[in-house]
Amino acid sequence: MATAKVTSVKALADLPGLSSIPTTYSIQSTPNIVNEEAVSDATESIPTIDFSLLTSTNPEERSKAIQELGKACEDWGFFVVTNHGMGESTMKGMIEACRAFFELTEEEKKEFEGKTVVDPIRFGTSTAPGDKVLFWRDYLKVLLHPNFNSPNKPPTFREFALEYGKGARYVAREIVRGICDSLGLEEDYIDKVFNLENGVQRMVANFYPPCPQPELAMGLPPHSDHALLTLLIQNGIGGLQVEHQGKWININPIPNTFLANIGDFIQILSNGKYKSILHRAVVNNRDTRISIAIPHGPAIDAVVSPASKLIDPVSNPPIYRAVKYKEYLELNQSNTLDGKSCLEHIRIR
Ligand code: OGA
Ligand code: NI
Repeated sequence: MATAKVTSVKALADLPGLSSIPTTYSIQSTPNIVNEEAVSDATESIPTIDFSLLTSTNPEERSKAIQELGKACEDWGFFVVTNHGMGESTMKGMIEACRAFFELTEEEKKEFEGKTVVDPIRFGTSTAPGDKVLFWRDYLKVLLHPNFNSPNKPPTFREFALEYGKGARYVAREIVRGICDSLGLEEDYIDKVFNLENGVQRMVANFYPPCPQPELAMGLPPHSDHALLTLLIQNGIGGLQVEHQGKWININPIPNTFLANIGDFIQILSNGKYKSILHRAVVNNRDTRISIAIPHGPAIDAVVSPASKLIDPVSNPPIYRAVKYKEYLELNQSNTLDGKSCLEHIRIR
């Protein structure tokens, strides 16, 4: 086994004749993430939200779509978004630009490593000292909004990131309006209270190369997303699993759709009515999987708390304290994706 310093999982996976994974990548001794739970293929039953109906000017169509959205949020916290209006070429182009980034030389990618967690562009892999287990994933995180950033390589990245980011922001904001409506809040409640005009939008591109022992490795451990709403696209290769009624469900990619999931802030805002959902990424031994997740957050200085209209001191007291987005992010960073432990930090006991 090669012991030279590995700068990315891609570099490791590219080693000629790699037939087993270094023990540091083995999750076998880590009971909370081990791949032992029942997994089922129930992709068909995942709710689908037709975005064109959600944004329809026909009140009947819209109210039906809102009802379905509310049900999807309550039952699953996770849904497929169709008819969203974003062009196929933009979605594909974004994925290919990310692929081209990960295919840069290790030396080129190193330029984008970033020094601190607040750097607007950060390329990395799971090599942080003290990590008990390393994950089979390289990542690129790019802050797209309120300040737009882009790596200068590959040359197509900037253009696609601008267009993709803008389109995803629009879709996310409309869904968030629908979520407000479904909760009985003013449609623009979140938009105003969390100042979404300046909302934080950080793209997370994930690169999972083929793994010789996929059953021993994990791409991303179980976690919930800290934001309001995450939109995810992928390159046609499955690997995402979401937790539903105590089981892991395989999510098969559907071309030209977004996968949306509720983040912790909607759980806080709705005082636990809509829950952020645990999800994880497993790997395979055949194909490279690329996914792009964009968690959409409030403005950095916004304060998140249960909506006063949704709580009642007697019948439904707030279960979460108010938290600054910035504080929550710091909490999230220090917790290294350990399930939903961040939310537990702000729970009122
Ligand atoms: C994430 C995430 C899942 C995936 O980046 O937060 O959950 O399928 N990604 O890559
Ligand atoms: Ni996630």
